[in-house]
This record gives sequence, structure tokens and C-alpha cells, in this order.
Amino acid sequence: MRRAASIAVFGAAGSVLLSSCAGSPSLLDSHGARGADITTLWWLMFWIAAAVCVIITILLIWATTRARSRPAEPDLHAAGGTSLVLWGGAIIPAILLVGVFSFVLKTMVAEAGVHDPGPITIKVIGHRWWWEFDYMKQHVDTANELHVPAGRAVTLKITSVDVIHSFWVPQIQEKTDAIPGRINTVAFQANKVGTNLGECAEYCGMQHANMDFLVVAQPPAEFQHWLRSQQKPAPVPKTALQEAGQQVFLGSACVYCHTIKGTNASGNVGPDLTHFAGRKSIGAGILPNTPGNLAGWIANSQSIKPGNAMPPMDISGNKMQALLAYMETLK
Ligand code: CUA
Repeated sequence: MRRAASIAVFGAAGSVLLSSCAGSPSLLDSHGARGADITTLWWLMFWIAAAVCVIITILLIWATTRARSRPAEPDLHAAGGTSLVLWGGAIIPAILLVGVFSFVLKTMVAEAGVHDPGPITIKVIGHRWWWEFDYMKQHVDTANELHVPAGRAVTLKITSVDVIHSFWVPQIQEKTDAIPGRINTVAFQANKVGTNLGECAEYCGMQHANMDFLVVAQPPAEFQHWLRSQQKPAPVPKTALQEAGQQVFLGSACVYCHTIKGTNASGNVGPDLTHFAGRKSIGAGILPNTPGNLAGWIANSQSIKPGNAMPPMDISGNKMQALLAYMETLK
């Protein structure tokens, strides 16, 4: 009865663990130049551990079944007992551990040696709780969406303005700490065209779990097109409603924290909104970027993502409609 119950408990725990993985990016499905090495290392360690586990289990079963037919006080030195302990307990584990350790070192050295700077250098800045991506030479500053050319290396300079965060794209690259006052320079390469989820991997406070970003790997020509479009200032409002919305933005506290290139708004506390409408999410992955969600976010982002730096804004009715119409033009 107890056995059946414990099997049920383990089964339930296992299925909860496995189901929580569904839909998450797996580091075993690697799309990056560096991720592949780590995946190989992971599988090597998995198969060694699995083999050790199987051998130990077989020995245990063998020992327990054999013990029943033996005298109460067995002679430990009979049948090579001491040498079995020496080999199984010291020599073989030492060989395995040293072997795995040298493979880990080899992988680490190979990772550290990836230094193909390429023409694109992106400063990655962790904020509580969002990511800023500053394409330094191209004068493009965006948030929570890292665009890169597929198959080409870019250089990331990873840092933070407040606490320690960790930049992690499970399918492309290992974790790199984002540390205030320090810049960690790494090469970054997505091998496949596509969108990958990245996340903060270092506990950084209340909204640590809501600090996601997307890595959009584009064909190089498409990436260059994206970069050029991002370099342009925000489009000029075309309709009276959009114009009114721009006045709402420029006449409110928004300008102290946000930049919209081509206008007087030049704050740098929150994300640069020059091309905000082209992004897929708001609040660093917490909501899809739709007018309804944006209205809720502007009115009171604290109810959506408590503790974030944006205060509730007293903008309602017609003013909010105009502001939303304007924000949608920021492509
Ligand atoms: Cu930033 Cu966790």
C-alpha cells in the first residue's frame, strides 16, 4: 500500500516537473554557436551519470539478493572485497571525475576563445526589470527585443544600472552576469533565423520572473533593413487624433523617463519608445503589445507589474484614446 502511494506521489511530482518544461526554451535544442558546445557537454555528463546509476543499481540488487544466503557476519576481505572498494570507490570515480573536469575546462576555454567582434557591438543593460539594447555605433536604442543577423557574430557588452542580473538565452548562449560598474564582453551568434526567448537568470527582486526578452535572429539583409528603420526618428503624426496624442505625451510626465527621437522627449530612465509599436510585448514580456493592454499599462502599470519604476498616469477618456492612436504610429 505504502509503495503504491509513494509511486503515485513520485509519478505526480514527475509529471508536474515535466509539464512545467513544456513550451519553455530547452538548452538541449540549441540554435547558437556557443550553445552547441554546452549541449554536447550536458549529454556527456548525462550519459556518464546514467551509466553510473545503472551499474550501482545492478550492484545493489545483486548485493541484497546475495546477502540472504550468507552468514550473519561475512568476511569483508573474502572474494576481493577490499580491491572492489578501492576500484569502485576511488580509482574509477577519480578517472571519471578528472575526465569530465578536463572536458568542462576544454569547453570553457573554447567558449572564452570565441572572439569575432564583427561590425555590430550591442551594449546590453539590465534594469529592474527590463533590458536595454544599445547598438552603440549605429545609435539605435531599443528595449526587450534583441535583433541580430543570423549566422553572424555580434559583440555584446553586458552590464547593469542597478543590481546584478543575468543575461540568458537558453537555446543560444549560456548565462552571463550583468553587473553594475562592470562590462562583460562576449561574442554572440544565433545560427538559425527565428525568435528565441531570453530571460533574466539571477534573482534581482520582486519582478525577476518578469524580465523576459526576445532574440530575433533575421537574415542579414533583413537585419540591416531593421537597423536602418530604427535609426530614423519617430514618424510625424498624420491625423488630428495622433497629433493630439503626441501633445498628451509631450505634455505629461512621460517625457521625463522616455525618449521619442524627433520630439522633445529625451528621458532615459525607461525604455526608448521611438519605435515602440514595432515591439511584440510591453513590460518586458508581461503582456502582448495591443492598444488595450497598453491603455491598462499606462493607467496603472503597478497593478500589472508591481514595483516597476513607472507610476500610474492620470490620463483617461479622450486623452487616452488620442495617446493610444499616437503610440500606434511609432513603428
Ligand atoms: Cu533581472 Cu532577475
